[in-house]
Amino acid sequence: MSRPRRYLTCAPTYFDVTYAINPWMREGEPVDTALARTQWESLVDAYRAAGHTVEHTEPVAALPDMVFAANAALVLDGKVLRSRFLAAERQPESAAYATWFKAAGFDVHEPEPGPVCEGEGDLVPVGGLILAGTGFRTTVPAHQEAQEFFGVPTVSLHLTDPYFYHLDTALFALDDRNIAYCPEVFSPGSREVLARLFPDAVVATRDDALAFGLNSVSDGRHVFISPRATGLIGRLARRGYVPVPVDLSEFHKAGGGIKCCTQEVRTP
Ligand code: ARG
Repeated sequence: MSRPRRYLTCAPTYFDVTYAINPWMREGEPVDTALARTQWESLVDAYRAAGHTVEHTEPVAALPDMVFAANAALVLDGKVLRSRFLAAERQPESAAYATWFKAAGFDVHEPEPGPVCEGEGDLVPVGGLILAGTGFRTTVPAHQEAQEFFGVPTVSLHLTDPYFYHLDTALFALDDRNIAYCPEVFSPGSREVLARLFPDAVVATRDDALAFGLNSVSDGRHVFISPRATGLIGRLARRGYVPVPVDLSEFHKAGGGIKCCTQEVRTP
């Protein structure tokens, strides 16, 4: 069943690869700005065609990764937990997004200096829990902070493969109860936890994950997914989901895909 969603995005006006903070990024790699714009617009169009609301925050010239809206916060029940980015280059993004949330009437939790927290990049609400990634960016004390702030139990999951430096590159929520993920990029204990919590999960190969297939957005029925993740697309279709392919190949150069470009604004 699909449920209408509210998504916050940021146009890729200043998107570029000017520094390298994950294995996908090559400093100075040329980005086709016009193609990036067209690809990003096709994502916005696909969301709207499926009945979702898409809003935009104002891009900032000095912040080439600001297009990756997912990292700026986690929004649950209308409450906003702001991010504290690991990389100095990305730190100002948090305040830029907080300005949008405040203007839109949200209560924004102001972070104390402390644990790294990269928003929906590492915090995935599903099944009455927050699945919380760690290993490369978000740290475990931030999982505790999210649990305390939202009053929702967090489950810490350890990522072990540097190509999957955010949880949202390795796992996504299919609906309110189930997930798709790639077991082999998690620690053995985290794999067991996921298998226990989600015995019906759709399991993806590392190749489909490398094609950004797990950096997907689902509304419960439509799965907005990289067309390069062919194996996973077939598996999702056989499980009754409707894959909606959207190619964000220019953004892969920065280590980002569909989910990275999408902040879900969950209101009560
Ligand atoms: N270049 C960005 C970074 O490394 C990409 C962020 C991708 N976002 C995501 N939600 N996984 O931080």
